[in-house]
Parts: sequence; structure tokens; C-alpha cells
Amino acid sequence: MKILYVTSEAVPFCKTGGLADVAGSLPPALAEQGAEVAVVLPLYERVRDRFGSQLKFECYDYVDLAWRHNYCGLFSMEKDGVTWYFLDNEQYFSRGTLYGQADDGERFAFFSRAVVRMLDRFKFWPEVVHCNDWQSALVPIYLKDDGVREDRYRSIKTVVTIHNIEYQGRYNPYVLGELFGLDAGWAKDGTMLLDGDANLLKGAILCADAVNAVSPTYANELKMPYFAHRMEGVMRQCSDKLYGVLNGIDMKLYDPRTDGRILKNFSPEEMAGKDDCKAELQRMTGLREEPHTPVVAMVSRLVSHKGLDLICEVLHDMMELPMQLVVLGTGDQRYEDFFRWAAQQYPGRMSVRMDYNEDLSMAIYAGADLFLMPSKSEPCGLSQMIAMRYGTVPIVRETGGLKDTVQPCESWRDAGNGFSFANYSSGDMLHVIREAVYLYKDYPDVFARLRQRAMSGDFSWARSAREYLRIYATITGQTWPIHSDTRRAVEIPAGEAAPVEEPAPAEETTPAEEPAPVVEPVPAEETTPAVEPVPAEEAAPAGEPVPAEASAPAEEPPSKKTRKTSAKAASKTAKAEKKTEKKTSAKKGTAGKKKSAE
Ligand code: GLC
Repeated sequence: MKILYVTSEAVPFCKTGGLADVAGSLPPALAEQGAEVAVVLPLYERVRDRFGSQLKFECYDYVDLAWRHNYCGLFSMEKDGVTWYFLDNEQYFSRGTLYGQADDGERFAFFSRAVVRMLDRFKFWPEVVHCNDWQSALVPIYLKDDGVREDRYRSIKTVVTIHNIEYQGRYNPYVLGELFGLDAGWAKDGTMLLDGDANLLKGAILCADAVNAVSPTYANELKMPYFAHRMEGVMRQCSDKLYGVLNGIDMKLYDPRTDGRILKNFSPEEMAGKDDCKAELQRMTGLREEPHTPVVAMVSRLVSHKGLDLICEVLHDMMELPMQLVVLGTGDQRYEDFFRWAAQQYPGRMSVRMDYNEDLSMAIYAGADLFLMPSKSEPCGLSQMIAMRYGTVPIVRETGGLKDTVQPCESWRDAGNGFSFANYSSGDMLHVIREAVYLYKDYPDVFARLRQRAMSGDFSWARSAREYLRIYATITGQTWPIHSDTRRAVEIPAGEAAPVEEPAPAEETTPAEEPAPVVEPVPAEETTPAVEPVPAEEAAPAGEPVPAEASAPAEEPPSKKTRKTSAKAASKTAKAEKKTEKKTSAKKGTAGKKKSAE
């Protein structure tokens, strides 16, 4: 299988967000499974500065786009079994930042056109071109456009992955010809038109052979107005080719056993190092050095969809609990101001850093006890998986990938790997934070087992890569993979590669109802976990990271303390359920405004 992966950012070359982590890890994971993989990226200034000496100049050509005729250089690098290509044009890419420029449309139209133009120059003619987000959304469109004239473009199948549907690449349709070199028919027939705008992502979704969202729950949420930023109709229209493959994390890079970035290493079997990491975190951030006070942490962009309004509403109630709070991130002024002000009210108990700081973020993952992500929406989310890997138990709202990776703690049967709440409600969030804090303080043995389960989840890219290969196989009609460990996938006819199914009608749903799409469970024989969403109530979702034993009750008979815990926890759970039932007044959000991605 020959795959060309097109992305506007990838670790370690350039990064503004989660897309870079995915694009840095998935291609090597595909290569490890036997696929031939090349990745193509723009040659940004920062890539040239840091990696220039390692790049090999391949060739150059000229790219025609509308009336423009622009130079394009091609550089390459071999790494992790993958060929990384970089497209060079200094006018477009020798800039201080990746995105957020007035001519982003022109820059990424050039990039997408150049990818198609340079297809002959790559080491293979791809069977699948896999694009990501709006920046490479024009690629499937150009391939269709060129395919009208030349057969060979029609042989290429396309996949588009949506990492965040908020960013769609919207332009005045008037510029279709001038900026993108496309006939006005692309807007007139509606393929690229949404709400009067030319919409690059919509065009890609309609043109691609498969569309993927970065978690099963997000794939279903995208059919609902609350999450889809006006694209719900388009997503419903393409539901027969819609998939939801959960992202993974780099399990080697994020390994508390070996990570050299943290003070002391530790593992589920030997947790002493985590206590040292906690003390170090408290020292670094000016929190009181109290080993028995749970440290709740947030590492997040400080923007609205991360659920920060909930925290603003109940921060003082949170701080009445016996806990400490550490916040790391940058973002909107109003949140930065709020957190700065709040930290002054709780010296020694609350600490904030308005910064993007890798070292401190690792110290937080390793040293904190609880990791808070109350997101309004979260396509996949990687931080909760990293936190779990380091034994920092997540508290999340049940949306997108958060719902698919975190199963709520049920102490009475030793199940779950974190805490979660369904409604976008500060009261509900406070309730689970309280539950988590008191579980930590009053029932350390139960909390320790919860922590163990969180740490032993499988968030590896190998799992996700297998799911992607099944999608590629489905659209190319090939049989793949052929490895024995994935034999079951071969037995499934290509057509059954499990697109995400229609959720319950969404028009009138509230966010509270939305995160639990009604999907028929697929019989055990046929399932391949990461693609299919499963009903929230019945089974652990696709990314099920909890190991088999985790869902079974603990083998040893519970101690007296545990029994007490179980009874208390069970009654708490019952109360919580009752409370959740009563709550129907979740807030309804509105689709956000257009924003640039950086
Ligand atoms: C975007 C999403 C995030 C996801 C990442 C990688 O940044 O907001 O949830 O994990 O892309 O797919």
C-alpha cells in the first residue's frame, strides 16, 4: 500500500497543535505495519533553520495556479521508515509563524497545488493521498479536477481527516478562480459552497473517498449542529464514508519508566518516583509541599471550547475542597486575567503559568494527581492520554475523544480509569471533582487501583494505524493487512470496514443528550475496536484503553476500608445518577466564529 500523507505540520519539524503530534506519529506507525509511506509538508522557515542541513535537495519545478507561475523546490529526508518531503517556496513559507497570515488561503492553495504537481517526483505514485484539515483540503479537489483530463489522477483514492471542524477555510466564492484556480462551477453546484462562502473543507469532504474524524464519538457528534460549526448537513450526507479512528500517543516518548524529562522515573509496579515528582512540581510552582493534598492540573490552551467557563463559575467552590490547582497555558485575555487574579486569592494552593512550556507540562503530567479537561467539545484530545500514562487521573466532560478514552470510575467494582460528567454544567463538574478529591483523600487504596488502570491503557499508534489501513483497504479494494496479529481484519469484507453509523436525530438534542449517540453494537466477531463507536452505556468505547482485568472485580477480597469505600461510592454513584437525571438544563452553545488556526 502506497500512502502519501499531506499535512501542514508534523512533530518534530513544526508544531502548533495536536495535528503535528498525529502527523509525526501515524506515518511511522503505518510504515511499521508494512505500508510504504511518504509525508509532504511545507518547508517553513523554522524547518529550514533547524533541519536544513539534514535535508536532501531533490529537484524543483514550477506550479501554475490561476495566473501565478511559482517556483517549488522539493527536499527530502528519511526518518523512521518514512520519506518526509518538504515543498519550498520562500515567499509563502519563509515566515515567522505557520498560520494566521492574511494570505493563508493563497499559501495553502499553493501548497496543495504543488503536492499534486509534484506527484511524479515523489518516490512512488500513491494509491492513497491522506489529507488533514483545511490546509490540505484542496488536494482531493485538485485531484478530481485534474482527473477529468487525466486518468492517472483518477487512480488515486483520497482520505481527509478532520482534527477540528471549527477551522474550515472559508473564502468569498468570488475568489475561486483567482485564488484557487477553480471554475466557478465548484461553488455554483454547491460542492464548495456553504452559507454563501467557498468552503475548502466542505469540498474535500464531498470529494474524498473516506472522511475520518479523530475519535468515534467526534465522528457522531459532527452530525449535530452543536458540534459541527454549520457542517452537520454535510457530515450527515457523507455518513456512509465517515469513520472515527481514535488517535494514539507516542508510547515510547511518553513512558514514565524511561522518560528523562521527569525528575524520577516510575511505573505502575513502582510508584515511589511519582511522589518525588509531585514534591518537585509543588516546589516549582510555589504550591505548599503537602504530599497528601491532591494536585489537580490543567495544561490547556485557554480558549472557550476547553470548558473554562465552567471553572470560572465554580472556582471558589473548587478551592474550598482540600486540593491544590495548577494551570499551564496561554490563550484568550479574559481567561488569562481570570486565572491570574484567582491565583492571587489562593497563595500556596493555586498556581498559574501563562506559558507554553514543554518542561513544565511534563513536570505536571508526572507530578499531578488529577487532570482536568471539562471541554465543551474535544475532537480527540491527547493530554488526557498522556496524563493517564503518568498516573494522573483524568476528570473530563464526556465529549469526543474524552468520552472514548476515559471510562468513569466505579469503585464498587474496581472499574474505570478516570472521572467524567455528561452535562456542560459547572455543578456537575464540581460534583465529580469533589468525588475525585475525596476518593484520593479518604480511600487511597481505591484511588491507587484507579491510577493503575489509567496507567495500563493501550493508547499506542499501532492500534490506530491498523484501523487506518483498513480504511485504505476499503477504498482501494485491497486486502490488508496480512499480518497474523490483524488476521481478523482480513476476514472482514472490505465493505464492512465499519463507517460510523447514523446517530439519533439531532435537531432538538441538547448537549446533554448528544454525547451518547444511539448506535447498534456490532457483534463481537465483526468488531474492530477503534473504528466503530459503541453505545456509551453498554461497552467501553472504541479506544478502550482499560486492560481486560481492569473491568473485572479485584481478585483479592476487599479490605474493610475498601468495602466501606464500595458502599459509600455506590451510594454516591446512585446519588450522582439521580442528580444527572434531574438535570436537563444544559446550556446550548452556538457555532463559533471563523478563526485562524494559530
Ligand atoms: C486537534 C483537536 C484535538 C486532537 C488533535 C489531533 O488539535 O482539537 O482534540 O487531539 O487535533 O487530532
